[in-house]
Amino acid sequence: MFNDVIRPRRLRTSDNLRRLVRETRISPDSLIWPVFVVEGENIYREIPSLPGQFHYSPDQLDLMVQHAQAHGVSRVLLFGLPKDKDEQGSGAWDENGIVQQAIRKIKHLDPAMYIVTDVCMCEYTSHGHCGILCGHEVDNDQTLTVLAKTALSHARAGADMVAPSDMMDGRVAAIRQALDENGYQNVPIMSYAAKFASSFYGPFREAAGSAPSFGDRRAYQMDPHNGREAMRECALDVQEGADILMIKPAMAYLDLVRAARERFDLPIACYAVSGEYAMIKAAAKAGLIDEHGILCESAVCMYRAGADILITYYACELADAIRKGEIG
Ligand code: PBG
Repeated sequence: MFNDVIRPRRLRTSDNLRRLVRETRISPDSLIWPVFVVEGENIYREIPSLPGQFHYSPDQLDLMVQHAQAHGVSRVLLFGLPKDKDEQGSGAWDENGIVQQAIRKIKHLDPAMYIVTDVCMCEYTSHGHCGILCGHEVDNDQTLTVLAKTALSHARAGADMVAPSDMMDGRVAAIRQALDENGYQNVPIMSYAAKFASSFYGPFREAAGSAPSFGDRRAYQMDPHNGREAMRECALDVQEGADILMIKPAMAYLDLVRAARERFDLPIACYAVSGEYAMIKAAAKAGLIDEHGILCESAVCMYRAGADILITYYACELADAIRKGEIG
């Protein structure tokens, strides 16, 4: 009677079959967990704006490493909180700075842990901007020099990959040159290629103490209205020698993840940022949503949009969900 009905439901009839025909396959290998390291001792403290995430002083990093290992996560993205800040952000390239100390400690605890470092000035400058100020403006080219120094100091401390998040023009080339001239040709650069001036970073700035003391970041981070410009930023970073392109934030910017995937042949990463995580946590705490369901579904959608790599505060939970076969 209804012989002419086309039946897509046929492929949804069992769990086994649904798993067979999945279009998006996810592996814990594609996850990177952002971690906050803080100068000092004996600090293992939950971050109020990011419940479930912690500040670790170097002597407590065994807790971080154990946690990652217990969930089968072996890639981290490090952010540092220094004790002292200055106008230039000199703590960023100090060979004994917080990130440099943390890299050495983590490599000592677990040489197999792959360490990516965020390269930016905002956690280290007294004014909280992502570079060197000239009056009230961030001076692009002076900032390139300190970014290159910072990336090099991370590589010297043992970082496996550097990830500049400052959005200065020309920083990928400047960093590539500094690394190459010093024998670090094999340290890749994951560029925050299209990073938007976003309200979604609020909880991070509390966690990292990196909110600008005046103004905002709109003179260097991108305008959320602009998608074509994001592709231009990606193309420039490819040209300058980036190895991986990142789109950030993730959830509200998946059109650009898809566009970048279609246009460029480099691995595409997306960063599900602090505000995305904090919103899920808060809504779950209020009893409004199912946290696990939402964290799994939103991650799947980021991969479906075209991400090869997902940077997320939920890395450990996602690695478990993938291994249990709930997603992936
Ligand atoms: C540093 C940096 C920021 C984030 C990553 N690197 C903050 C900012 O640009 O203000 C945000 C990450 C997050 O919200 O999880 N520039």
